[in-house]
This record gives sequence, structure tokens and C-alpha cells, in this order.
Amino acid sequence: MEKKTARWLRDVYFDFFQKRGHKIVPSASLVPEGDSSALFISAGMHPLVPYLMGEPHPLGKRLVSVQECLRTQDIEAVGDSYHHTWFEMLGNWSLGDYFKEEAIPWSFEFLTKVLQFPAEKLNVTVFAGDKVAPRDEVSARLWRQVGIPEERIFFLPREDNWWGPVSQTGPCGPDSEMFIDTGKPKCSPDCRPGCSCGKYLEVWNDVFMEYERRSDGRYYPLKQKNVDTGMGVERTLRLLENKEDDYLTSIWQEIIKKISQLAGRPYQGEKRRPMRIIADHLRAAVFILADGVRPSNKEQGYVLRRLIRRSIRQGELLGLPAGFSREVGAAVIANRDNYAGEYPELDQKEEILAALAAEEERFRQTLQRGLRELAKMTQKLQEKGERKLSGRDAFYLYETFGFPPELVAEELRKDKLELDLADFEKEKERHQALSRQSARGRFKSGLADHDPRSVAYHTATHLLQAALRRILSNQVRQMGSNITHERLRFDFSYPRALSEAEIHQVEDLINQQIKAGLKVERREMPFAESQKLGALAFFRDRYPERVTVYKIGDFSLEVCRGPHVKNTAELAKFGRLVLYKQESCGTGCRRLYARFQG
Ligand code: SER
Repeated sequence: MEKKTARWLRDVYFDFFQKRGHKIVPSASLVPEGDSSALFISAGMHPLVPYLMGEPHPLGKRLVSVQECLRTQDIEAVGDSYHHTWFEMLGNWSLGDYFKEEAIPWSFEFLTKVLQFPAEKLNVTVFAGDKVAPRDEVSARLWRQVGIPEERIFFLPREDNWWGPVSQTGPCGPDSEMFIDTGKPKCSPDCRPGCSCGKYLEVWNDVFMEYERRSDGRYYPLKQKNVDTGMGVERTLRLLENKEDDYLTSIWQEIIKKISQLAGRPYQGEKRRPMRIIADHLRAAVFILADGVRPSNKEQGYVLRRLIRRSIRQGELLGLPAGFSREVGAAVIANRDNYAGEYPELDQKEEILAALAAEEERFRQTLQRGLRELAKMTQKLQEKGERKLSGRDAFYLYETFGFPPELVAEELRKDKLELDLADFEKEKERHQALSRQSARGRFKSGLADHDPRSVAYHTATHLLQAALRRILSNQVRQMGSNITHERLRFDFSYPRALSEAEIHQVEDLINQQIKAGLKVERREMPFAESQKLGALAFFRDRYPERVTVYKIGDFSLEVCRGPHVKNTAELAKFGRLVLYKQESCGTGCRRLYARFQG
């Protein structure tokens, strides 16, 4: 019998849905393009948001993909047998085409016929209904029709059976989740699918996206009823390979083997936790690096830094040799045939590993500095005759040097001193509240809710790129972009800062195009043809065979998902576009900020 690996799972999944009219879309880059509402792609539907909202997709109304995802909210949960930051998700979509009547029987058929999970182990949940959407009797009836008995259909509330939106606004809806009963005893009489005891493992989620959450916090019916499904590759493979632990499946084996070799210990007992954290975090770091992000103190770069630093601390606990991150990173890349998707960006092996090694080195130096800082604090305490280090000082060490409180407490103990742990927790809570507030600020906009001002900034971004290419050099290429309600930010390849005169020329050229009232046309064509026509394509993305191209008069031509305004004249109502700030974004990279000034 064929071995049920991640590649096998992908192939049978694609085959099943291709036979039902679906077209394969490539996995998008981990960094969402032109969307400031989230740092990373966190679900298969995430790059499809504009299409779920009604933009036509060049490949049609039925899509299937394997998408790499990163969920930063799970960083602290990693260490058990099934949480991961980076993971792969298989999914199929109906963009206003089929709905529950097809999606549910197909899910049942795929799970029981193709993956051959016994139907009697399948448990499903459906939405119990609330003020926004009714009780999902339709899904329940469809599950009954394929043969799931009443006692294995659970009606659950919003906390369990509502999915999305990915950030604060966008498409969402009630869902129906599928769980395999592992046969373990119930942990309590109330144990049911969704319980985390490990009896029921979730394999798939069918979301019926017929609502949109807007920034006023209310729900509105979408133009079209969509289906969005997601199947976690790691978890499904664990069931297929019949393992107790995700990290024991073929997806992880090479990475775990490497860590265990470096540690000189088997993957067993309490050593499993640090090994899982290192495996998970360094795998995620490799994929983030592969998408062009580098460690920094901001946004994606900060998440990357945290992942690498957390794994190095775990490496210390395990006694791994300095420089181990490079070796584990190499194993993550060598393991590439064991992932469901194919990631050609892993070919940049040397750049990725060099960046990992450099960050490890930097962190080790930081650790040394942190220890010196702590020694100074200790001395001060002793001089004052005090015994407890304040939460504030401990939090400073935590924030600046990544020192966990246990490490600080251990160091203090050597001098018969203590850490005021409660005070530290209070300080941490205060900072978390602050950063939650600023995260909410970041979610104010983005393209997800088709806010007209953000859409205008999106079109302005195309004008900016075209203008830079005319004024500076046609070698200028987009390296990143980020749009909020207030401004646009654009990163591009260029070796030096722009002069005042150049800034003005670029601004003038853009505003002339706005005044000229150029038509913005949307066309679909094969990717190859778009390249022949000279359409700019964002270098980090992988493109499907057919793409959407936006043409702005004869001024700009770019491969892009949209949305855009229909005519550049629509930008004039927001004012004149001004470039108000420039900075460097690394060697050979410039960053410009622009906003409308009315
Ligand atoms: N978006 C849903 C999920 O992430 C289904 O794809 O679970």
C-alpha cells in the first residue's frame, strides 16, 4: 500500500477536488501582500479575502490549495503534541458557487473513502445559532443524510462554531467541524468534540462564509455565499500515521532526529517539550526567512526574532552546542520533501542559514550583556540592603534581553536574593494591555473591508511604483507594501536615499496622473502573457497560471489581486498625495511613506 505521507495527502486532496472542478492556486507568501491588518497569513482563505468578498478570481469559482500559515497567537502553546506556529493547511473554496449541499457530502466522502477514516469514528459539530445567524439545521440534515447519527452531531455556540474574520473585519460565518474519535475514554461526562483532552482530534473545518464583519462590529450578508474549508496537514497526518504525537510523524522526523543527535539524548519524557519548541520555532523561522524577512525589533522581523531567541533559550536547557540553530535549520530545509507543499524559496539555503547563525550569535552576545546588567542590579540591591528585585527591573531584563523570570530568579539565588514575581507579572500585564491597544490600532483598516480610502491608497501604490521607475530607474522593484486607512508604505529596491528634488518629481508625476483621470482596467490573462506585456509582479509571490492584471492608462501595469478604484480621478477627493517620510529598510532597500493631504 502507498505510504500516507504529507505529499500523498496533498496529491489525493488535489486530485479529489480537481475532479470536482477545482483549480489549484499556489501557496501565497507568508507575508500578506498589501494588507496591513495582519502580520502573517494565518489560514488558507487569508490570501483569498478579496475574492470571498466578491472580486472575480482569474481561475474561476472553485479553488484548492495547500497554504503555509503562521499563527503567532500559538507561540506560548507550542511544546505540547499538537500546537505549531508554522503549519500547512489544505483547503477548497467555493466563491459564490456550491454551498453546504455539496461541501458536506464531499467532506464525508473524502474522509471516509479516500483517507479511509471509519465513518463510525467521525463526530461533527454545527452552529447552534444566535442573534447573527440561525441554528444550522441544513448542515445537520446533510450530516444525517450521509449517515452520521444524531448522537454524533453536536450543536455548539459561537465560541466553537463560528470562524473568522482573520483580523477585525472581513468575511466569516458559521462552520461545521469534523473530529475523529481516537477511542480514548472521555475525560469527563461533558467531554465532546472541541474538548482539548485529546479524545477528539479535529481534522477539517467547513466554513460557510456568508457574512462580513465590518469595522462597526456588526455583521452584514455578503454578496455571495462562499465555502472555505481548512484541513491541518500535521494533525491529519498524525491520524493517518497513527501516532500519539504530531512530532513523531514523517513531517517532523528528520528535524527531531537532528535535535536529538545534537543533544545526545532521545526524544523522550520531559526532554520532548524543549525539543518540540526548537523544532517548531526554527522551522517557522526558516520559512519566514525564506520569504525575505530578517530579524528586527518591528512587526514580522520581531516575531522572527522571538522565535529564534526562544529556541536558543530552549537549546541552553537541553545543552545544545552554540551554532545549533544553523544545523537544525539545515535539517528543516533538507526535510523539504516531507512537507505537503513545495517551497522553491528554500533554495536560498545559504542566505537563510547565514541569517539564522547571525541572529544566534547576536543573541548570545545580548545574553552576556544582560547578565552584566543583572549583576549591576544585584550590586545595587546589596548596597541598599534589599533582598527583592522589582518587577520593573525584571521586566526590563525580559523585554530587552529576553530573560525569562526563572532565569533571573536563578541568577539572584546565587546571591541569596529573590525576584518579586507578582510584581513582575503585574508589570508584564500592564505592557501586554498596552500592546493589545496598539494591535487594535493596527487592525483599524487594511484592504479586507474594502474601505474606500484604503482602496485609494492601493491604487496610489501602483502609481508610486510606476513614478519611481520613471524618475529613478526602471530597475526599481517593489519589495513590500503596507496600507492603512491613514497612509501607504512602500519598500523598493534602490541603493540610496532620494534627494528633495527627486521626491518632488515623483510626487508631481503621481498627482498629474490623478488629475489626468486615467482609467483603471482589470484584465485576466495567463501569467506568461502578463510578463510578455511587461506587467510588474511582486517578486516574493508565486503566481497561478492565470492572473489578474491592473492597467492604469499607459502609466502602470501590474499583476495584482485588487481591489482598485475605477479611475484615478477618484483619488482626488482625498487630496494631494504627498511623500512625507523616507527611510532605509536594509541594504539596497528604501522605504517611502505617502498620504493624502486635503
Ligand atoms: N478558515 C478556516 C480555518 O482556518 C477553514 O479554512 O480553519
